[in-house]
Amino acid sequence: MELKIAKLGGDGIGPEVINEAVKVCNAIAKKFNHRIFWSEAMVGADAIQKVGDPYPNKTHNTCLNSDAILFGAIGDPKFDNDPNSKIRPEQGLLKMRKKLGLFANIRPTFTFDSLIESSPIKSEIIKGIDIIFVRELTGGIYFGKKGRKHNGEIAYDTCTYSKEEIVRLAKIGFELASKRTKKLCCVDKANVLETSRLWRETVQSMEMDYPDVKVSYEFVDAVAMRLIQWPNNYDVLITENLFGDILTDEASVISGSMGLMPSASIGNKICLYEPIHGSYPEAAGRNIANPLAAILSAAMMFENSFGLKDEAQLIRKVVNKSLNKRIVTKDLSKNKSHSTSYVGDWITKNI
Ligand code: IPM
Ligand code: MN
Repeated sequence: MELKIAKLGGDGIGPEVINEAVKVCNAIAKKFNHRIFWSEAMVGADAIQKVGDPYPNKTHNTCLNSDAILFGAIGDPKFDNDPNSKIRPEQGLLKMRKKLGLFANIRPTFTFDSLIESSPIKSEIIKGIDIIFVRELTGGIYFGKKGRKHNGEIAYDTCTYSKEEIVRLAKIGFELASKRTKKLCCVDKANVLETSRLWRETVQSMEMDYPDVKVSYEFVDAVAMRLIQWPNNYDVLITENLFGDILTDEASVISGSMGLMPSASIGNKICLYEPIHGSYPEAAGRNIANPLAAILSAAMMFENSFGLKDEAQLIRKVVNKSLNKRIVTKDLSKNKSHSTSYVGDWITKNI
């Protein structure tokens, strides 16, 4: 098979972890007789520095001309500490999501038996966890009208959702749930927010199309608590953009390290794969970041964008082996740890 993949390293540790994922993809291609055509493009602070735009048109065209996108991370503390800066790296990611129509972000949360002790949560609570968040990604407060008034002393952000946006997101949740344990949780704040009431009403009206899926409706504050108390009660969770952002960071703690969790952003056509962690600027260029989330994102890409299940399975198997043999980066080991590129090379060699 011929695979056209856009490689967008982005900022901080992004390029380093994506490089390891690329090595792994190339090894997979060699083993299974595929040809990968990589095209590289810039995004984020890197692109602001070079051309003054965090998501330049050229990058957008590269993405449009690819079958899938492998993306690293975005963000630079230079911009975080300057609330007045007009152009910010994160705008690049938001623009990319919007322009590519990536309306759903699939974020699985799982544990590895060999790492169960690395989680701050008791192992009996998290053993065997396998949950999936479906986060809405191109609407809500992230994209609503925002601004300042009264000499800048009042600020506002608005949250808007249309029924259409909710239906297309919920559909993905229902379909995933019907292939799994048939449990779907709609996370909202319907006791306070009008948009949440529309979410609830809309999801309720879809229930009859999926008679075998059992839906629970839960408030986001309660879910934040239950995720830590009884994460095993959940299977598929659907939620709006901001709630999903917060809950998926929380859920990543279950796995023992944020450096492990992959994600897929899907839309009508092209999909993007990225680790859920950020740009971790303190570690940039030091060859210490954990490349596994990027490598596991590549596995999601093989399976989801190209239907290549065996390829994805092999990546996951070798990642598991690396964890069992403790070929891990610093975040996962207090004693003996390895560099980003050592872990990537080990996985590549074992494929
Ligand atoms: C994420 C990130 C982004 C978000 C930022 C970098 C804009 O935190 O992908 O979760 O908030 O969506
Ligand atoms: Mn986030």
